[in-house]
Amino acid sequence: MTGVSKLTTPCFDPGKIPAAPNDPLYSLVSAYEADTSADTVDLGVGAYRDENAKPWILPTVRKAKAILEKDPRHDHEYLPIAGLPTFNSAAQSLILGADSVAIKENRVCSFQTISGTGAVHLGALLISKFAPRPSPDVYISSPSWPIHDQVFTNVGLPVKHYPYFRKDTKTFDVSGMTQTLNSAPKGSIVVLHACAHNPTGVDPTSDEWIEIAKIMKANELFPFFDCAYQGFATGYLSQDNFAVRYFVEQGFQIAIAQSFAKNLGLYGERAGAFHFVASPSSNASSTTNRVASQLSILQRSEISSPPIYGAQIASIILNDPQLLSEWETDLLTMSGRIKKMRKCLKEELDRLQTPGTWDHIVNQIGMFSFTGLSPAHVHELREKWHVYMAETGRISVAGLNDHNVAYFARAVDNVVRRVL
Ligand SMILES: Cc1ncc(COP(=O)(O)O)c(C=O)c1O
Repeated sequence: MTGVSKLTTPCFDPGKIPAAPNDPLYSLVSAYEADTSADTVDLGVGAYRDENAKPWILPTVRKAKAILEKDPRHDHEYLPIAGLPTFNSAAQSLILGADSVAIKENRVCSFQTISGTGAVHLGALLISKFAPRPSPDVYISSPSWPIHDQVFTNVGLPVKHYPYFRKDTKTFDVSGMTQTLNSAPKGSIVVLHACAHNPTGVDPTSDEWIEIAKIMKANELFPFFDCAYQGFATGYLSQDNFAVRYFVEQGFQIAIAQSFAKNLGLYGERAGAFHFVASPSSNASSTTNRVASQLSILQRSEISSPPIYGAQIASIILNDPQLLSEWETDLLTMSGRIKKMRKCLKEELDRLQTPGTWDHIVNQIGMFSFTGLSPAHVHELREKWHVYMAETGRISVAGLNDHNVAYFARAVDNVVRRVL
């Protein structure tokens, strides 16, 4: 045949895929593990460590595992698409408060997810599938947990940033954040850390949350809460959900990503939940049911159904008043030890008269401290002192203990004096 041109479509060519950079935090873990020095200090990974720098299985979790093991109904069957019902309902009450009117009015739907990351992803996917085109902007704090940007851009949503941290005072940048939210286009999504902000360790006060909610209401912005550290900020579960409860009381429709990795120490078990709360209205339950039906489709095509073990452990604890109260004691053990280490580090730096001010170490809360150390300091700390921490200057304070805090302070003192 002549004169007939065959249409060609561009083909998928794996040979043209560029190499991606390694994940900085996982690379840090590998470098730490490969370091054979006796002095190594791991302040990189965001996981609680005990007094001997070892992972800590919470006593409450040990008890829940024993209960599960003895339960004759315990098996390895598939969970329903939405996950373990007793886990979902308890997770809902934990984040919204057991007395939440949104729960009473059937305006909440909950899906068990692959921990907090999976919850952020499921929510992002829902927004990207059903938001009008062009897609709304997703506002993420600067800085934030780096994976926020990746998860939202991976599903094709445009990401913008709002200022969050004042480098000069090392405190929350309330005016920077509120100015940006004031000028954000109506309908934008705003990712908010519910408490114990990662990486800065600074949270808005309750008055500042009230101001943020006012602006978001006036500007019709959609709150997407990420709650990965409930119980790690104040040590109390019912205080760390203040912002979420306040936004729900104000009648917002909100999305919530919830993780049990840190507060139950179930990192590798991947227990988390995504919740959608509709605004109060006569259609609220119907909206929630329709959202749940679509989440079912998304969940089925992504993971089919979530993993069972971590959710079973969490469910046993969350649904037993005695274990729940023991868990609160475990949370105080973790948050208390972190607070003690903040104080020790500050005292050591003061004692050494390390140049700079270090009040922020004790003023910041949660698992992390944004130290203000530069990438050059971080590099020197790693090369010369075998201290491993994120390039941003973030340390996981949980990696400090009575055996290494003086060493770390000495290392910081040395690099701050020597390296610009
Ligand atoms: C702010 C924030 N969100 C979500 C997560 C997700 O954690 P995971 O997927 O382990 O529950 C983390 C973990 O570091 C985090 O810091």
